[in-house]
Amino acid sequence: MSDLLRLPAEQTYASELAALTSGDDVPKPEGWKLSPQAVLTYLLGGKAADGTIVSPKYVGNRRLMETAVATLATDRALLLLGVPGTAKSWVSEHLAAAIMNDSTMLIQCTAGTDENQVRYGWNYAQLLAKGPSEEALVPTPLYRAMQQGKLCRLEELTRMGSDVQDTLITVLSEKMMPIAELNSAVYARRGFNVIATANNRDKGVNELSAALKRRFNVVVLPLPDDMDEEAAIVARRVDEMAGGLSLPVPRNVREEITRVLTIFRELRAGATADGKTTLKTPSGSLSTAEAIATVVGGLSQAMWFNDGRLTARELAANMVGAIVKDPVQDKAVLEEYLETVLKKRRDFAAYYAALGEAL
Ligand SMILES: Nc1ncnc2c1ncn2[C@@H]1O[C@H](COP(=O)(O)OP(=O)(O)OP(=O)(O)O)[C@@H](O)[C@H]1O
Ligand SMILES: [Mg+2]
Repeated sequence: MSDLLRLPAEQTYASELAALTSGDDVPKPEGWKLSPQAVLTYLLGGKAADGTIVSPKYVGNRRLMETAVATLATDRALLLLGVPGTAKSWVSEHLAAAIMNDSTMLIQCTAGTDENQVRYGWNYAQLLAKGPSEEALVPTPLYRAMQQGKLCRLEELTRMGSDVQDTLITVLSEKMMPIAELNSAVYARRGFNVIATANNRDKGVNELSAALKRRFNVVVLPLPDDMDEEAAIVARRVDEMAGGLSLPVPRNVREEITRVLTIFRELRAGATADGKTTLKTPSGSLSTAEAIATVVGGLSQAMWFNDGRLTARELAANMVGAIVKDPVQDKAVLEEYLETVLKKRRDFAAYYAALGEAL
């Protein structure tokens, strides 16, 4: 096993990708390593031509993934939108891994991102010695993706300033980037495209300009609406993550996941599952990703401090962390939920006690 915490998707799933590539003899968009059908099998799981089992990466609506993949084969870029923890970054990485076998051309956009980090920068020693020249130019991931005909990933696009965002307009519509200092330009090779992610919950973001929006096809990733589906996602990811961290997974994990998710989903929806009681909702998004993190945190606590036994106590401390983002309001929301809902449920007695204690 490698001593790296995490490898890029194309390395982790190299054998699946190789199996899909070898049996993939249908036409592909130019520059693509896999056909759109094979990319979809990689994302949603299935079987490669040689019988290799391909694990599902995204669990959810097939149509959404079809639209995402089809968009990347056109001249429009893809924007994955959704609340935090709906697998936007995850899908973006797997798309780049499957289509280009390279998910590493990534720009993390922040309020401090400037044009030099999006287009190209300069090596100042070289710039002083030789003046503006090819050697003094420092390419960004976007620049390299254009040169090599690959996919560039822009994480949290709306976090960077609108003026910087707009440098993408020429790149996306003309498929070229002028380099005024050298009186030249870089032209994108076939295959080049952009996958951006943005979440629609954050405050302090910069809305995309209408001009830029038009160059993106937006795919909104929803929270799973079905309990069983969400439980399956959490169970699968918890298994994978626990494996990576060498944490044993006790037998009762599936039951506890169902209980944690019941609580998360009721608080998220602002109503009990039977629809009889309305509830106040906490300020956080209580997404699937947070349920995954809660259970993995619980497993770690169980392994190191409770002889590997996973109980409500180990999970409760992590649940409070996910639910109470605002120490005053969210605490009151959880307290009310405990007293009006959880107290009356016999199979949640341990959670009622443990959450009350952890709060
Ligand atoms: N529908 C889903 N199918 C598979 N995995 C999912 C799904 N929803 C969430 N996950 C899991 O949630 C985790 C977090 O997802 P990710 O980091 O991609 O979220 P995000 O939408 O980018 O959030 P943020 O806006 O905070 O960046 C991933 O490990 C992913 O496996
Ligand atoms: Mg993300």
